[in-house]
Amino acid sequence: MKNDVTDRAGLETMLAHFYEKALADEVIGFFFTQVVPLNMETHLPLITDFWESVVLGTRGYGKNVMQVHQHIHDLSVIKKEHLDRWVQLFTQTIDEHFEGPNAILMAQRARSIATMMNLKLNHGGVGVM
Ligand code: HEM
Repeated sequence: MKNDVTDRAGLETMLAHFYEKALADEVIGFFFTQVVPLNMETHLPLITDFWESVVLGTRGYGKNVMQVHQHIHDLSVIKKEHLDRWVQLFTQTIDEHFEGPNAILMAQRARSIATMMNLKLNHGGVGVM
């Protein structure tokens, strides 16, 4: 049986699985292996802070996510098709691990942030973040 997202440990396990998929992915893998090669030992705690603050309401994350991705976009364009693939892999991994209101919230937030990222990066849109 799957549980909802209730603690940091569950998030970290799910996120580690997401990056296993993302790094190996033929559409977006190169961002994480070539454009900005990720050191998972430092990246995983950061991204877990982010999702913990989004889903569980903790205050561990204070950086500007849009700025981080603007920088990546300047190195190698993040197109809508990349963001769509990111969301697909991310929501698939959520579904494999969790079930419940927080899992639904997490998937919704992922979709809405990806939508804002696309507007901001590719259409000069007004971002809220
Ligand atoms: C195609 C889509 C995406 C790509 C290629 C991508 C790529 C990356 C990369 C390479 C980093 C590491 C940056 C660094 O260490 O300098 C990063 C960081 C991060 N990404 Fe993404 N990302 C994507 C979409 C998203 C989305 C949609 C979200 C949120 C819903 C997100 C949240 C984050 C967060 C929180 C960090 C950590 C930033 C930090 O504190 O250093 N990413 N991303």
